[in-house]
Amino acid sequence: MDSPMSADPLDAAKRLAAARAAELVRPGMRLGLGTGSTAKHFVDCVGEKVRAGMDLLCVPTSEATRAQAAALGIPLTTLDETPDLDLTVDGTDEFDPELRLIKGGGGALLREKIVASASARMVVITDRSKEVARLGRFPLPVEVISFGLEATRRHIERAAARVGCAGTPALRRGRDGHVFVTDSGNSILDCAFGVIPDPEALAAALAAIPGVVEHGLFIGVARAIIVADASGVNIRGELA
Ligand code: 5RP
Repeated sequence: MDSPMSADPLDAAKRLAAARAAELVRPGMRLGLGTGSTAKHFVDCVGEKVRAGMDLLCVPTSEATRAQAAALGIPLTTLDETPDLDLTVDGTDEFDPELRLIKGGGGALLREKIVASASARMVVITDRSKEVARLGRFPLPVEVISFGLEATRRHIERAAARVGCAGTPALRRGRDGHVFVTDSGNSILDCAFGVIPDPEALAAALAAIPGVVEHGLFIGVARAIIVADASGVNIRGELA
């Protein structure tokens, strides 16, 4: 595990947000574990609680998080065995004042949305750099079935244009140049639309396209956002 003291102020903020979220964890809870560098700190906190004897049962939102949690000895389950969770804690790529999110920078948006939606509460942990007045600075990830990908890409482009979003969805590739494949075996189209004038309309338009598995707009999903910076944490929404 990394040292609790971090020289990187952004990472220190992520740890602070994760530690605050860990205060919400109670014995016997069924937890959803998010994905990404911020969620990783939360999983570390959960690992410490388990090591101290707390009885918890967790569902990871990605294979990476599953591996981290398993290495920490965190008891894991699935949504098939445990379909109702008490709390999911996850990071975000962007959030606006209405607690709407763009997620999927790490490619885990599908499982993240399924797990968050199975939870009584989703609490987001983040640093202040992810805050925007209007969503769209971060390219919106859209998970698509590989079959018919170019046709789906054009559908997305046209549907987005109808709700005021212009931009060419780009197929995500890994650093090695190979097409990125999600944990569920799909591809991701990153949509650099710029400011999204109507996130709800875009979400509905994307959800209606055959071939789109899920999009990274999380609307009405987050109950609260714990935002950290060097001066401490700030809570948006209701933690309880
Ligand atoms: C992964 C996600 C992550 O939550 C998001 O990318 C934020 O990651 P990080 O905490 O590393 O900035 O949506 O699919």
